[in-house]
Amino acid sequence: MTQDELKKKVAEAALDYVKGVSILGVGTGSTVNHFIDLLADLKGDIEGAVSSSINSSERLKKIGIPVLELNDAGDLDVYIDGADEVNPAFQMIKGGGAALTREKIIAGASRKFVCIVDQSKYVDVLGKFPLPVEVIPMARSYVAREIVKLGGQPQWREGCVTDNGGQILDVYNLSIVNPPELERTLNNIPGVITVGIFALRPADVVLLGSETGVRTLKP
Ligand code: A5P
Repeated sequence: MTQDELKKKVAEAALDYVKGVSILGVGTGSTVNHFIDLLADLKGDIEGAVSSSINSSERLKKIGIPVLELNDAGDLDVYIDGADEVNPAFQMIKGGGAALTREKIIAGASRKFVCIVDQSKYVDVLGKFPLPVEVIPMARSYVAREIVKLGGQPQWREGCVTDNGGQILDVYNLSIVNPPELERTLNNIPGVITVGIFALRPADVVLLGSETGVRTLKP
């Protein structure tokens, strides 16, 4: 099975978590794109979705699912999103698609975070995938220097402007042994909008797509 087929399989499995949910949170990325496509069949049951990116919003609207503002929707029952890496504590690296800030907001506002990934994303220690950090543009070089002091090698994702007008630094060579601590430390650098470590609010369920089927991991 190709990686894309595995992504589609986990997206299908995520449909079980949206039954009976009227407003759901929807993330960003190629795995979530499969999930959105599958939502078309359920659209009569769904009042709307809060989306973590302009891309996902457009895809949702295309299939006739209303996109709601989080300010109007309030807390959500469930949030479905992918990840770039996830560890056995369900802590994640996210932001490969530059949507990390809205993703973290919706994750925080959701009672259940269902993370949908293919097995290649499941790791013991986070950090092989370069860690995305969204920054205020004027702070980019300063934040990069601070990250170097912490042992990381930041690289500016040139040409990438986030939905919030931010820029992204991808940080290489971090072995993230204590994800909540590093999340807090990086969050505290002035100019950082969001760190792509999702450890203070990890996922609640991980659906892992593998050759042998979809495994449901629970803490
Ligand atoms: C978007 O910013 C990311 O957090 C995505 O959730 C992550 O990159 C997963 O993307 P794929 O589903 O495309 O692998």
